[in-house]
Amino acid sequence: MDLKSQINIEKLPRHIAIIMDGNGRWAKQHGKARVFGHRNGVTAVRETTEAAAELGVEYLTLYAFSTENWKRPKMEVSALMRLLVETLHKEIDTLNKNDIRLQAIGDISKLPKSTYKTLLEGIENTKDNKRMTLVLALNYSAKWEIMEASRQLARQVQAGEITPDDIDEAAFSNALNTKGIPDPELLIRTSGETRLSNFLLWQIAYAELYFTSIFWPDFRKENLFNAIIDFQRRERRFGKISEQVVQ
Ligand code: IPE
Ligand code: IPE
Ligand code: MG
Repeated sequence: MDLKSQINIEKLPRHIAIIMDGNGRWAKQHGKARVFGHRNGVTAVRETTEAAAELGVEYLTLYAFSTENWKRPKMEVSALMRLLVETLHKEIDTLNKNDIRLQAIGDISKLPKSTYKTLLEGIENTKDNKRMTLVLALNYSAKWEIMEASRQLARQVQAGEITPDDIDEAAFSNALNTKGIPDPELLIRTSGETRLSNFLLWQIAYAELYFTSIFWPDFRKENLFNAIIDFQRRERRFGKISEQVVQ
């Protein structure tokens, strides 16, 4: 049986989030500069997006640039920003053809002007698409997002619009960048690293974590299928005991 047919379509995660890692090490393995790894990572983005949409996943969030990534050599940062502009220009038609809506989370207004502008255009040009939402995490930091949400709620309290008791889980979720997006059920990280690197800390409170040693530029549809099959074999108990969990 091929991998895809082993997936139970009735039990698909609605939202998959991916920490795309290992571009630099992949490039090194090939005797090339790090940027070569980032360029080849685009193929993996395309394959994964297509595979997720074909299956019927509703949201795919890709961690593309963290707030901490500004600390990288200037040359790598600017190459990444240019690659993003180039890729968005190239892929917008395909996103529209595949009925995929683009969104972004993170402090995107701090991106270089051309990157920010291209990103906003991409979001605007795809806003009516319905099949899947592709969320790019750019200049993203979960701690920043949580602090921003706290500030927003504090200001609302100060203005007398809400009381402290109104701040429940739903209100807090609504103050995050991911407002309206269901929490990811499956989080994938490539490259063998087993950490979260400041990604979606609130939203993945109950996500299933899947780590693979594959470097991101080598990630293909089959690798996504394998992650989903693994996810579907797990029992998600949410604090209950096994006997209470209705399959
Ligand atoms: C992930 O690959 C891409 C970004 C963080 C932008 P890396 O560039 O982190 O690759 P490694 O971890 O150095 O191999
Ligand atoms: C996390 O990868 C950020 C992205 C994938 C964009 P990093 O490679 O930057 O993470 P650390 O620094 O190794 O934790
Ligand atoms: Mg890395």
